[in-house]
Amino acid sequence: MRALLAPDLRLADAPDPQPQRDEAVVAVSAFSLNRGESRRVSGDPDGEIPGWDVAGVVETAAADGSGPSRRTRVVGLMTRGAWAERVAVRTRDLAVLPDVVTDEQAATLPVAGVTALLALDLYGNPLERRVLVTGATGGVGRFAVQLGHLAGARVTALVRRRETADALFALGAEQVATDVAQPEGAGFDLAVEGVGGPVLAAALQALAPGGTLISFAQTADEPTSFATRTLYGKGVRIRGLLVFPETRARDGAGPLLERLVALVAAGRLDTQIRDVLSWREALAAVQRLLAGAVDGKLVLRVD
Ligand SMILES: NC(=O)c1ccc[n+]([C@@H]2O[C@H](COP(=O)([O-])OP(=O)(O)OC[C@H]3O[C@@H](n4cnc5c(N)ncnc54)[C@H](OP(=O)(O)O)[C@@H]3O)[C@@H](O)[C@H]2O)c1
Repeated sequence: MRALLAPDLRLADAPDPQPQRDEAVVAVSAFSLNRGESRRVSGDPDGEIPGWDVAGVVETAAADGSGPSRRTRVVGLMTRGAWAERVAVRTRDLAVLPDVVTDEQAATLPVAGVTALLALDLYGNPLERRVLVTGATGGVGRFAVQLGHLAGARVTALVRRRETADALFALGAEQVATDVAQPEGAGFDLAVEGVGGPVLAAALQALAPGGTLISFAQTADEPTSFATRTLYGKGVRIRGLLVFPETRARDGAGPLLERLVALVAAGRLDTQIRDVLSWREALAAVQRLLAGAVDGKLVLRVD
């Protein structure tokens, strides 16, 4: 089969996957790019296949009888190796796709959508809670704004560029801010924080007493500094979130993907696809994403 190989993302021959008994072999038709895997590619070992998100069709069902049967359309989360014609995916990390959800839409969901959904699940019921989403223009951020709004939260989207405000209001943000400073006593119940550095410190400061900050990234390459009284003074909590161990500790990514797929199928969740390109353009696409020139998700088709 063919696959994209690190570190230069050349399209080359690679061995076919050897599935474990609980893994289905999926013929991949599309995947999306995430900042995390894109950032790692240049440092990955020579010949390694990167990639976390897959959408496609089951070519061989799992030997243990679990999961979808041959020819079923699916979306899945992998810890590596997704940027290939064929992949072996644990059936617990797969969800079935209805006809109304395209492979391109589905391909945006695994890392970005599941991370946003987990952040909200970890907090609990956000109905009428004030939720801050930092890095709101990003892949995860756009899902977090929409899912928070759908769950009944009052979402404030934190952005760097004011001109992105209309797009975030359209996704359900009640407020769009370029600064998180809050008046005393009017803080956020939850911060879904994916920027790090000084933004994490400002988001902590802006929490209401007893509030929760869920930290899932250090996108800004700067240290975070805050007075410890910010924590104990208001009894706030910080919770780290990494999508892979978090889904492993649950029933896999499948049940989370099922919920996201259902929302897309119902037209309630927009996957924010900015462009669909050929996987032959992977290197340029990764460079474009890392340069910050993508407002939304880039999807690559395995053609
Ligand atoms: N913990 C996990 O399991 C997990 C899962 C998924 C993603 N992540 C991480 O989460 C982060 C977001 O991922 P993504 O795929 O959504 O990335 P993305 O689509 O590239 O979005 C990045 C977001 O961060 C903002 N940003 C970048 N640099 C910034 C800075 N210096 N100061 C303030 N904002 C900045 C961008 O704002 P502009 O639009 O203004 O550039 C954009 O909103 C990445 O670091 C990724 O590695 C972690």
